[in-house]
Amino acid sequence: MSLLDLAPVIPVVVIDDVETAVPLARALVAGGLPVIEVTLRTADALEAIARIVAEVPEAVVGAGTIRTSDDIAACLVAGAKFLVSPGTTLSLADAMAASGLPYLPGAATATEVMALAERGLKELKFFPAEPAGGIPYLKALAGPLPDVRFCPTGGIRPATAPDYLALPNVGCVGGTWLTPADALAAGDWGRVEKLAAEAAALR
Ligand code: 3PG
Repeated sequence: MSLLDLAPVIPVVVIDDVETAVPLARALVAGGLPVIEVTLRTADALEAIARIVAEVPEAVVGAGTIRTSDDIAACLVAGAKFLVSPGTTLSLADAMAASGLPYLPGAATATEVMALAERGLKELKFFPAEPAGGIPYLKALAGPLPDVRFCPTGGIRPATAPDYLALPNVGCVGGTWLTPADALAAGDWGRVEKLAAEAAALR
């Protein structure tokens, strides 16, 4: 099954303290969002992925902010189940393909989408969704490129997520709103679970 069809929302998480990784993943799974993208933006990210893989088998944990083949090698060691990149150079596309993992390469323009579609890649991350043009832009892409589907992320909030999900070329959306930094710092897993449950009910 496609990564885009596993859940309506992929939480994009930034883990500053590895001790929060497992309870955070458990709260998201309990709320109904088992697909989790841990961004490689913090020193603890790879260890967080490894711990979630080991201790929360119901989660499908992948790595975001993939920029290099070294990132991919480290994610394979950590046990990541999928890869997501904010944008995609052709060498990164090759490295993601060689990983053997499912992946969502990032794109933001018609030319970038076409370059990836030429390689047979038709399930992409649309990033940064809101600054790049948001819903009107995705609607416009669906005209000439109707066979390409997206996971938009970047600036999406609970109020706008349903309108994105209603687009025929959107499979799911991603965002950080499910895991507010203050909730993570306070260990408020009930709040995370509630936000996840609200998002899981979007479709
Ligand atoms: C991403 O990496 O997908 C975005 O940074 C998420 O953006 P958001 O914080 O606006 O949800």
